[in-house]
Amino acid sequence: MLSGKIAIVTGASRGIGRDVALTLAGYGATVIVNYCGSKEKAEQVVADIEAAGGTAKAYQGDVSKFDVAKDMMTSVKKEFGSIDILVNNAGITKDNLVLKMSEEEFDQVIEVNLKGTFNCMKHVSRIMLKQRAGHIINMSSVSGVMGNPGQINYCASKAGVIGMTKSLARELGSRGITVNAVAPGYIQTEMTEVLSEDVKESILNTVPLKRMGTTKDIAETVAFLASDKAAYITGQTISVDGGMGM
Ligand SMILES: NC(=O)c1ccc[n+]([C@@H]2O[C@H](COP(=O)([O-])OP(=O)(O)OC[C@H]3O[C@@H](n4cnc5c(N)ncnc54)[C@H](OP(=O)(O)O)[C@@H]3O)[C@@H](O)[C@H]2O)c1
Repeated sequence: MLSGKIAIVTGASRGIGRDVALTLAGYGATVIVNYCGSKEKAEQVVADIEAAGGTAKAYQGDVSKFDVAKDMMTSVKKEFGSIDILVNNAGITKDNLVLKMSEEEFDQVIEVNLKGTFNCMKHVSRIMLKQRAGHIINMSSVSGVMGNPGQINYCASKAGVIGMTKSLARELGSRGITVNAVAPGYIQTEMTEVLSEDVKESILNTVPLKRMGTTKDIAETVAFLASDKAAYITGQTISVDGGMGM
């Protein structure tokens, strides 16, 4: 489904990004496994892809840094010839109720989740515009759709991602480039592992499908949006949340 395609997945050393990288590679794409601090984990993702017969390369880079994102796009284009798929998955949380939230906690989440997505989209756009083709998939969240107490920073970043997705879809659509978002619900990763059992149970009570999502649930949706099967879908936010946000 993705043979010959070059894909960059940001934050692919762990969690959802890891499975997105493995899944895109499984469908035939060459995958750039971006990470920030988890070098060994990123190299393990590359090794797992190669063991399954795929092609991948790890790339360290903090997406919140404008020039780092630019260098990543430039060097991937130079080495591999094109960038067909960009998955903006890198994300962090710094949860706190508004009265306790520090300026740093607010700024850091916006820097990585919102500005990081902007940085990568901006620098890949020039490349995709010249190609007159490409698929961008941004990781939003059910929290960005519904809001969530204790996550005013995270919800702002993820609602912002939805707004940027729609704007860029309108800017790039005439050149055959699609821009979509995925809004995961409550997915089993290190990000959600830290929640207390009480919080986990109360979240599950709001999920009609009565289970946590898996990274595979998200990865398959991303792979669909990255393929020509989704050629006529753009500017959309696809909820993969067990019905939580309806
Ligand atoms: N898990 C959920 O329930 C859930 C729900 C809705 C949305 N999401 C979204 O889905 C995405 C992935 O979540 P996850 O649960 O898989 O998170 P995770 O397990 O905490 O993994 C986060 C990934 O982001 C990378 N990252 C963090 N800061 C970065 C930066 N500045 N530059 C580059 N990479 C960076 C990390 O790389 P290093 O380890 O190398 O630092 C890691 O690979 C996030 O955008 C998150 O907001 C998750």
